[in-house]
Amino acid sequence: MKVVIIGGGPAGRASALELSRLNQEVTLIEKTHMGGTCLNEGCMMVCGLVDVARFLNDAKRFNEMGIIDIKSDFTYKKVANGVKETLNKLRHVSEKEILEANVKLIYGEGIPYEGLVKVNKQEIKYDKLIIATGARSFYPPINGAKNAINYSDILDLEEVPKRLIIVGSGVIAAEFAGVFSSMGSEVHILCRNQFLNVLDPEISKFVANNLLEKVNIHRNVNVKEINKDGVVTHDGKINGKVLMATGMIPNSEFVGDIVKKGSRGEILVNNKMETSNPHIYAAGDVVGGVGSTPIARMEGVVAARNVIGISTQSDYRYIPHSISLDYDVAFLGPENVLSDSRENSKKNKLQKNENNKKENEKEKNENKEKKNIVTGKIPGTAGPGSFWKVLSSQTGFTHMEVDLDSGSLEKLYSITPSARHNMTYISMLSKLGHKTYDFDNFIESHPSTDSIYKLMRFFSKY
Ligand SMILES: Cc1cc2nc3c(=O)[nH]c(=O)nc-3n(C[C@H](O)[C@H](O)[C@H](O)COP(=O)(O)OP(=O)(O)OC[C@H]3O[C@@H](n4cnc5c(N)ncnc54)[C@H](O)[C@@H]3O)c2cc1C
Ligand SMILES: NC(=O)c1ccc[n+]([C@@H]2O[C@H](COP(=O)([O-])OP(=O)(O)OC[C@H]3O[C@@H](n4cnc5c(N)ncnc54)[C@H](OP(=O)(O)O)[C@@H]3O)[C@@H](O)[C@H]2O)c1
Repeated sequence: MKVVIIGGGPAGRASALELSRLNQEVTLIEKTHMGGTCLNEGCMMVCGLVDVARFLNDAKRFNEMGIIDIKSDFTYKKVANGVKETLNKLRHVSEKEILEANVKLIYGEGIPYEGLVKVNKQEIKYDKLIIATGARSFYPPINGAKNAINYSDILDLEEVPKRLIIVGSGVIAAEFAGVFSSMGSEVHILCRNQFLNVLDPEISKFVANNLLEKVNIHRNVNVKEINKDGVVTHDGKINGKVLMATGMIPNSEFVGDIVKKGSRGEILVNNKMETSNPHIYAAGDVVGGVGSTPIARMEGVVAARNVIGISTQSDYRYIPHSISLDYDVAFLGPENVLSDSRENSKKNKLQKNENNKKENEKEKNENKEKKNIVTGKIPGTAGPGSFWKVLSSQTGFTHMEVDLDSGSLEKLYSITPSARHNMTYISMLSKLGHKTYDFDNFIESHPSTDSIYKLMRFFSKY
C-alpha cells in the first residue's frame, strides 16, 4: 500500500517508522526540519535552556551557602548557539533513522488533495494519507499582538531581556519564566484568569511560591494592546520584551475541505485517528487537545496500524505530564485523573454527540461520589538533585489520592528532581492494572527522590 505522511514531527515520524516496520511503501513529506516542534523549537530547546537555568540556580545556592565559589557569568548568545548546535545534531540523527528505515523523505510543503499530495511541483499518489502537521503559536485578537515574540524566536534573542512580559499563563509561560528569571530577567506573567490552570489550585500556588518565587505573577489581567516595547493592560503600561504564550492553533488551513475540522481548525478524528474521509488519518497536535510528544507518537503509531487494517485505539488513560522548572512538576493526565483524558476534548466529536458527553460526565461524578477516596501528601526526600536544597527547605512534595476500596490511583502530583521518570513508570503500571496493594513489596533503588512509592506502600497497608 502507498502511504503518504505529511509532517516530520513526533506523530509523522512515529507513523513512518511503524509503517516501514510493517513493510509498507512510505513517503514522508516535511516542510522544514526533521523532528518537528518538539525537537527544533519545543521540548528539546526548553530542555537545553532549563539545564543552564538549573546550573545557575545551583551555583547561586552553593555561593550563598559558602560551600563552593562558582563564577557563573554567561552570554546568552553562546547558550543559544550551543542549543542550536545540539538540535542540529539531533535533526541529523532523526533523519538518518528515517532514511535507514527505507522511508522516502521529501523536503517541501505538502498540499493534500483527494488521492494525491502536491509537493515541489510533483504529484505523489496515495492509497492512504496521514496528516501530522502539528500546530503553531496562537495569537489572540489583541491590538498589536504580532509585536510579541513566541517560543520559536527564543533562540534568536540577542541577550537575556532585562524585563520579560509573558502573555498567557500555561506551561510555556511557566517554563520560560523559570528559565529567564534564573538567567537574571525581571519576569512578569500576565494571566487572564488563574496561573497554570492545568494544575489543581494548591499545586499551582506551590509552584508560584516555591519554584517561580522570583517571578511576578499578575492575575485577572486584561491585555489591551501590545507594542514593540511593552504591553498596555487595564491597569496601565509595562515596558519590556513581550512573549506570547497563549496556546497553539492547528496547522490545517491547507487541508481544505477534504476532511472535517472543528472550530479552531483541528482535524476531527476518532480514537483510531480516522478522519471523516476514509482514506485520510490525522495524528498529533493537528487534531487539537493537549500538546504532548508522547501523545503525538502514540497517535502516529495508532494511525499507521489502522491504515493497514490493524484495528488499534489511542489510549489516553494515565498520561504522564511534566513541567520543567527548578524541579520537575509531574502529574498524571491533563485532568489529573485516570479517566480518558481526551474524553472531554475535541477528539471524539466524530463519535460522540453533546448529549452523550453530558451523560458521561454525570456518570463520572456519580461514580466519584461513591468512591472511598483518601489523600496523602509527603515532602520530597533528600537525594540526587535535591540534597543541598533541603537546607533551604526546598524539598518539593508528592500528593496522591487513592480509592481505598479498589486501591486505584485517583490523582497524582510529584514535585521532585526525578518526578518525570517516576511518573512514567507509575503511568505504565497503572495502565497494566496495578493497585496500591501491589506496592507492598516494592524495592526502590537508593538513594532516589522518588516519594511516590512511599505513599503507595503506605496505602498498600490499608
Ligand atoms: C516551547 C514548547 C515546549 C514543549 N515542551 C514539551 C515537553 O516538554 N514535553 C512534551 O511532551 N511536549 C512538549 N511540547 C509539545 C510538543 O512539542 C508537541 O506536542 C509535539 O511536537 C507535537 O508533535 P506533532 O508531530 O503533532 O507536530 P509537530 O512537532 O509540530 O510537527 C509537525 C511537522 O509538520 C511540518 N509541517 C507542517 N505543515 C506541513 C506541510 N504542509 N507540509 C510538510 N510539512 C509540514 C512542520 O514543519 C513540523 O515539522 C512543547 C511545545 C512547545 C511549543
Ligand atoms: N512540558 C510540557 O509538556 C510542555 C511544555 C511546553 C508546552 N507544552 C504544550 O504546548 C502547548 C502550548 O503551551 P501554552 O502554554 O502556550 O498553552 P496552554 O498550556 O494551553 O496555555 C495557554 C494559556 O494562554 C492563555 N490564553 C489563551 N487565550 C488567551 C487570550 N486571548 N488572552 C490571554 N490569555 C490567553 C490561557 O489562559 P486560560 O488559562 O485562562 O485559558 C492559558 O493560560 C500546550 O499544549 C502544552 O501542553 C507542553
